[in-house]
Amino acid sequence: MKNTSSHSYPRVVAATAATFFLFTFLSNLIFVNTASAADIETGRQKAQVCIACHGAAGNSEIPEIPALAGQTAQAITTALYQFREGNRKNPAMSPFAANLSNADMNNLAAYFASEKRAASIRVSSNDAVAQGPELAKKYNCVQCHGPLLLGQQHIPRIAGQQHTYLLAQLKGFKAMTRADMDGNMSSAASILKDNEIEILADYVAGLNH
Ligand code: HEC
Ligand code: HEC
Repeated sequence: MKNTSSHSYPRVVAATAATFFLFTFLSNLIFVNTASAADIETGRQKAQVCIACHGAAGNSEIPEIPALAGQTAQAITTALYQFREGNRKNPAMSPFAANLSNADMNNLAAYFASEKRAASIRVSSNDAVAQGPELAKKYNCVQCHGPLLLGQQHIPRIAGQQHTYLLAQLKGFKAMTRADMDGNMSSAASILKDNEIEILADYVAGLNH
């Protein structure tokens, strides 16, 4: 006979443990914020397998796949950690994070963060150019992602990211299907109207700075 309460308990414990490890890991990151040339070089070699999808130097040319070039190192490490631990899942990406060590993740992050982001080829619609900046202020996107949306620490750069990817992530946060380390991004997206998501993704994807 099934006892539901004894089945749900371990899940709560597992979730609590996962959160604990995530925060322990993130607080450790604070002390690993200076990448050496050797880290970058080790990361570059390890990254050969990644560029098949993420593009040369991490400049993705595939609409569903995010660019990694010029992303903040902490955002990359955090994402890899979430994929490795299974908090964030994607059938294409998850297998490539599964066997990475913490050192691998830091080196890969150091490498991709050191690469220059190629200019965005997205031409935002007139509506997006007109309304995007106001929405980004109204909903505090600029507070967290930085005034130019270039990211800071674990908060990812979104300026000039692939449009299809941005749209999918924003819809995913709103629908609570995209993992969210601390809940901040899901609550930011929860109040967006669908047409505002369209405008924001269109605006942000076309930013070239
Ligand atoms: C087979 C294709 C493929 C390969 C190879 C691949 N990735 Fe990915 N990666 C993806 C996809 C697709 C996503 C977007 C997943 C999603 O929509 O959540 C992604 C997402 C990511 C993200 C999250 C970026 C963000 O802005 O949140 C990081 C970091 C990342 N990959 C790093 C790597 C690294 C490092 C490697 C090599 C070790 C790698 N990927 C190999 C397909 C791939
Ligand atoms: C309170 C801080 C905060 C606010 C406000 C916020 N974000 Fe975020 N955002 C984050 C964090 C943290 C993440 C990383 C979440 C994770 O992967 O765990 C994120 C991730 C994202 C991503 C996914 C990027 C990627 O590379 O996968 C997009 C897109 C995004 N935010 C867009 C926005 C937009 C547009 C707004 C305004 C409507 C916004 N954010 C407001 C903190 C914030």
